[in-house]
Amino acid sequence: MRKTIALLVGFLVMIGLLATTGSARAGGWATVTVSELPAVVVAERPFTIEFSVRQHGQTLLPDLDTAVTAVQETSSTRVNVQAKESSEEGFYTATLTLPQSGEWRWGISSWGMVYPMPPLLVNEAVAGDLGIGGETAVAWQLVLGWLAAAGAALYFLLWTRQRSRVQLAGLALLGVVSLASFALHAQMPVPVLAESETDLLPAIAPDAMGEALFVAKGCIQCHVNDNVTMAENMFQIGPDITFVKRPSEYLEVWLANPASIKVETIMPNLHLSAAEIETLIAFLKQQ
Ligand code: HEC
Repeated sequence: MRKTIALLVGFLVMIGLLATTGSARAGGWATVTVSELPAVVVAERPFTIEFSVRQHGQTLLPDLDTAVTAVQETSSTRVNVQAKESSEEGFYTATLTLPQSGEWRWGISSWGMVYPMPPLLVNEAVAGDLGIGGETAVAWQLVLGWLAAAGAALYFLLWTRQRSRVQLAGLALLGVVSLASFALHAQMPVPVLAESETDLLPAIAPDAMGEALFVAKGCIQCHVNDNVTMAENMFQIGPDITFVKRPSEYLEVWLANPASIKVETIMPNLHLSAAEIETLIAFLKQQ
């Protein structure tokens, strides 16, 4: 009997595995490109990641089940956010709030695979930001306001039964406390960003930006580059492009629109900005 159950379980697990790998492979492969890496990330402050998914590196894919997952190993914290489709077909957005400062690894899961992205440095929460003291103070005044109001109502009830001065004094006192609490709450200044805003560190160190773009734009998914340590090549679609010897002028044209040089190329036009192209070229020319 036990043996039969074990066999049955083993069989079901196998079917499950086959089904999942099958769906991951269905239709071949896809690349993921982040539209823009966040410049600065602050703990507890939401930020949005937009990305696109291209089947075979080419066709933008709508209707996908995709998610962004961030992990901080030192604190064993994991944040997982289901991505939503954006108005542009094949583009998705996910808004993340990372609870702690420090380094966070993250990736985009789509198409049954996880696409690792460049690690982000998260700044400590800025005093004055929503959620740090501000929110609890607000709640505290509201709680007092309502408690005092309830007390005042009770005294009013007692007073209607027995018109004594004690009840009236209680009613007046708690009424004032309640009104004062609500007034204080209404007066609470809208949280402002502290002056330390200017001291915030960039999410990605400037000297790592070339490698970060190479990973976030999806180049690493198709190309091997030995200078990349943040992620590994996933599909061997393009050539190894460690230390490219082509002149910068050529690379500028190629990265802006590969098909303008080679009509039939598999390499997509990723709509890179001029600044991104410049940073990527500097990285490609690194020995
Ligand atoms: C979907 C796969 C794919 C992606 C994504 C991709 N490439 Fe390519 N890339 C190719 C292929 C394929 C070639 C080879 C050209 C050909 O035969 O079409 C190529 C060629 C190149 C070349 C050599 C051009 C030459 O003529 O010497 C460079 C440089 C390059 N890619 C850089 C990049 C960079 C940087 C990114 C990211 C912004 C990137 N690629 C993203 C597939 C890709």
